[in-house]
Amino acid sequence: MGSPRADGYHPLVTVFHAVSLFDEVTVVAADKTSLAVSGEDAGAVPVDRSNLAWKAASALVKATGLRGSAVRIEIRKRIPVAAGLAGGSADAAATLVACNELWQTGLSQRELIEIAATLGSDVPFALVGGTAVGRDRGEHLTPALAAGSYHWALAFGHQGLSTAEVYATCDRLRAARAAAGDGGRPGEPELSHPLMTALRSGEAARVGPLLTNDLQPAALSMQPELRRALTAGREHGALGAIISGSGPTCAFLASDAAHAREIAVGVTGAGVCRAVARASGPTPGAAVVRDGQPA
Ligand code: C5P
Repeated sequence: MGSPRADGYHPLVTVFHAVSLFDEVTVVAADKTSLAVSGEDAGAVPVDRSNLAWKAASALVKATGLRGSAVRIEIRKRIPVAAGLAGGSADAAATLVACNELWQTGLSQRELIEIAATLGSDVPFALVGGTAVGRDRGEHLTPALAAGSYHWALAFGHQGLSTAEVYATCDRLRAARAAAGDGGRPGEPELSHPLMTALRSGEAARVGPLLTNDLQPAALSMQPELRRALTAGREHGALGAIISGSGPTCAFLASDAAHAREIAVGVTGAGVCRAVARASGPTPGAAVVRDGQPA
């Protein structure tokens, strides 16, 4: 991650990886647009036009010139809110895909990605899924040649973190270090070739030690107790232990599904997280499901 650009966003080179932790978004034709949220952390999610899913429906109407189209959006949340897991971005991507189907607007994935990029830096990846390299704000994607599947334990913090505040804290920490003569301005972000080679091998044991996140020191300075969770995961043999996105979720790479369970139990014992979950990846991006079956 580089220094902030003129527009305030930070230039990135990041590897996105979609895992099997889903929200369900249902869209139904209606007289006026509305939104309802249920499930995990539902009370923390706005249900007005400030919600990214609502903005996604409006952006599709605008892009296609479909006047007067309204929709009832129902989001069943399983992805924790403000957790650094791009849950809001996933809901926006799902709304785009679902409304494109409902209204038979027939936009291609490429066209949907263009709209997605106007909604948020992570929304294009939530459409595409899999494992991909994101550049610029994160919205410009190239598929990563990644083999195999990966098993994860995820530990959720008690309180969410604001992405914007974590980025701002990262800038402050970097400026303080530079002032103390400990490192200069960050250069242009670069892709980690060792990580890409490890991903091609499909061996979690090679990938794990190469996992890093430039936002991690900032997230840890804001919630220092997360260090204990990361340590507990490492003590239970996690191949890699990092903060996901802007945090506070801790992601632990495991050698297989049974090991992911072992790590999840071990991290629960550390007592610093609200809940743990297991997931595997890569999984596809937002997809239409009709009557419980993929469309
Ligand atoms: O793009 P999105 O709306 O998800 O970004 C949320 C916030 O995260 C931005 O307002 C910005 O403060 C920060 N951000 C950033 N650089 C990025 C992506 C996000 O500074 N590449």
